Amino acid sequence: MHENTKEITGIILKAKEKAIKETSREPEPELTKPINWPVDCVVGPGLEGAIACETRIGYVNGSKGWLVYRGYNIFDLCAYGTYEEVSYLLMYGYLPSNTQLTRFKKKLIEYRTAHQTKRLLMGFPIEKMKPMGALRLGTNLMRQEFTDVDRDKYLSNVARIIAADEDSIPMETTPMGEENAIYEFKRQQREDSIKEDLKHATGFESCFHLLSGVASLTGAIARLRCGQMPIEHDPELSFAGNLIYTMTGKKPTPVEERVMDVSLILHADHGMNASTFASMVVASTLSDVYLSVGAGIAALQGPLHGGANERVIEMLKDIGSEENVPAWFEKKRSKKEKIMGFGHRVYKSYDPRARVLSPLAKYMTKENKKSKKLYRIARTLEKEVIKTLGAEKKIFPNVDFYSGIVYASMGIPSDLFTPIFAVSRVAGWTSRVQEYLRKNRIFRPRAMYIGPFDKEFPPIENRGRTKKS
Ligand code: SDX
Repeated sequence: MHENTKEITGIILKAKEKAIKETSREPEPELTKPINWPVDCVVGPGLEGAIACETRIGYVNGSKGWLVYRGYNIFDLCAYGTYEEVSYLLMYGYLPSNTQLTRFKKKLIEYRTAHQTKRLLMGFPIEKMKPMGALRLGTNLMRQEFTDVDRDKYLSNVARIIAADEDSIPMETTPMGEENAIYEFKRQQREDSIKEDLKHATGFESCFHLLSGVASLTGAIARLRCGQMPIEHDPELSFAGNLIYTMTGKKPTPVEERVMDVSLILHADHGMNASTFASMVVASTLSDVYLSVGAGIAALQGPLHGGANERVIEMLKDIGSEENVPAWFEKKRSKKEKIMGFGHRVYKSYDPRARVLSPLAKYMTKENKKSKKLYRIARTLEKEVIKTLGAEKKIFPNVDFYSGIVYASMGIPSDLFTPIFAVSRVAGWTSRVQEYLRKNRIFRPRAMYIGPFDKEFPPIENRGRTKKS
């Protein structure tokens, strides 16, 4: 392990120690026991407190601020694991052996080459689309490329050898900028028959396509929207390393690769958050996993959810200096406006992911004057918020508060922060969809009707004068 990356492990273990000192890890008994349906729960607006299902995938201890994936606490997963191991763990329920991990990594590399999807994407005005919109479009196009769901069931299994002139695309093989970039058509040999579970776009193979494909598409979208060709991944780089490389065109340093890997682990799963719930609702109708992930991407985009990380950077730039923080914060508070990157439906304590991302942001910005200033403004704002809203309303930094500073230190533009979140969360979305489908029941809550009854039906000439109900 590279010298500096050992420092990253040290930072994570120090954050773990601090968390152990400041919070107990005692699970909440009412949220960690088997369910005998029907279950009693007190439900608030926005389904707050509602229990939707049982799970073994992950647990968010909101009162204490701990996050667990399949029994492992998030600090250990970040300190000793990789995103490939963690996505395998979320999907299968156990950490992979060496052979299983090698096979899994090979599959993920194979599934990165979504050339037909990228070629189709190039037919859209990507430069005019928000990256999250393009990413959602890409998941639908992947559905065409990798599955038979829309193919006429009477059509024989057409061989899917893609000839270079039809469906491969030029890829920059050595990104050195337009003048001397070398493009070549990448041919891709497809097995000539669709694997069984790809036919219905619901099985694990489709999940792995998406796990790899969403990352590959994020890299392609980052390039296409600047009028550049997508970059072929580098098989020597990790999942995290290729994400940085295919987005920026620059090979990451070992520290950047390690820090991105940690951030992908931190964002991989988080209970029944809005985007996971959205993907599960779509899956519960027996739609398919590509459309479920598309629903997850749509929900994640919102500024109250995954879109907050991009707005945090805008907010810190807007504040401008540490000295401006108190006045800026007082103004927001007096108008009861939400501070991006703070607060959480479940955490009424410090988000364990922010416990890791804050020191990582400090480490990553120490050499860079501009982003170091952003980090210091963030730290000053954090103190102001915790002193007031923390004490009054248990409002603390969440995962989105420091993540953007970490990505900005790698030269990643802010409107790619949420797509990175989506790349990571495909692991949580797909593993929870698979788990729920094993005992599927379509999600269908009720609404309380508080409207009128027994109204007379008025002829059209009498309308417009009646009192609006
Ligand atoms: C993510 O669910 C997940 O797990 C999500 C996530 C994941 O990994 O999937 O953790 C990722 O989405 C993190 C959250 C990112 N969003 C933001 O940072 C946007 C800012 N945060 C808020 O919009 C808010 O905190 C939410 C949306 C995150 C949670 O909203 P809730 O639970 O509906 O809380 P609420 O709006 O009912 O607020 C309760 C009180 C209110 O005050 P009162 O009206 O009771 O006086 O707390 C206040 C709110 O005004 N409040 C805030 C605040 N968040 C809540 N006040 C100022 N700043 C904030 N950020």
